[in-house]
Amino acid sequence: MLVLGIESTCDETACAVVRDGKEVLSNVIASQADLHAVYGGVVPELACRRHIEVLRPTIEEACKQAGVTLEEIDLIAAARGPGLIGAIMIGLSAAKSLALGLNKPFVGVNHIEAHLYAPFMDHDIPLPALGVVASGGHTSLMLIESLGNYQLIGETIDDAVGESFDKVAKMLGLPYPGGPHIEKLAQEGNAKRFAFKAGRVKEKPYHFSYSGLKTAVLYKWKELEEKDKADIAASFQEAALGDIVKKAKLAAKELGCKAIVAGGGVTHSLRLRAMLESAEVPVFWPGEGLSLDNAAMIAGLGYQQYKMQGEDPFSIRAETRIAIAYK
Ligand code: KG4
Ligand code: ZN
Repeated sequence: MLVLGIESTCDETACAVVRDGKEVLSNVIASQADLHAVYGGVVPELACRRHIEVLRPTIEEACKQAGVTLEEIDLIAAARGPGLIGAIMIGLSAAKSLALGLNKPFVGVNHIEAHLYAPFMDHDIPLPALGVVASGGHTSLMLIESLGNYQLIGETIDDAVGESFDKVAKMLGLPYPGGPHIEKLAQEGNAKRFAFKAGRVKEKPYHFSYSGLKTAVLYKWKELEEKDKADIAASFQEAALGDIVKKAKLAAKELGCKAIVAGGGVTHSLRLRAMLESAEVPVFWPGEGLSLDNAAMIAGLGYQQYKMQGEDPFSIRAETRIAIAYK
């Protein structure tokens, strides 16, 4: 079954063609990063305009690279949220229109669930597994009993981990999105110089809090100079990622998980990968091109969802905030 996936929840316009939920035939990403970089963050109105401009050519490019025509596609899948409402509406409406015009089934998928599905595309993962979502909008731990069957274990009560990287990067005068720049700078820094800590949430050992960490970094940075920048970046990175690693390892052990599955843009971090590999169970990561926002994960999960539940009605709507359907 050939699935066309469309992703437009934030600042990437992405389209992909995936066969049977796993085999990526094309994975095209039109990034808007430079459009938003001058503002130090995503400007929703600009994101929407750019999505409208580039969506059609991106769909065409995805089909071309996959060597298929639109008529040969069997299912159209789009992210229905969470994310920026206007941005999601563009990809979702395009998917519905294509499905209607081509007389093909359509499904709307959850962007966060798709991040967690990414590692399943090229691995057989033993279940139950502990899912770790670390992205610009989300930080959560979930118990994955089977695909489509999740239990929320912990989530952030304020900033997401990727968001804290972006905010700290902005303070340090680094470009947006900040994660990769912090990682690069941190390689030259001393991570032990400052004892930063991510927040603990009372009586909720698996919840996250990053806003205190961000403020601590801000005050420390005000006392310092340019030459201390790499040390600040390294110490912040260690605290932010270390907190995820500690909680994920603990939860995996306590819940008897056979594996850890990590997804979301922050899994692009090689430092996070190295740190989490210390877990007692095997850790599965998204393959090449599947960590940051992409449409291959949307097409992949769309296929699984269609197999389990059939098509979605055209009445489903874009949603700014949707939790994964926990069972
Ligand atoms: O999943 P994603 O592409 O978009 C959302 O759904 O949010 O994640 C983007 C986030 C950004 O906050 C970016 O700074 C962060 O992932 N990120 C990183 C790294 N690469 C990307 N954070 C830390 N270290 C990295 N190497
Ligand atoms: Zn994402």
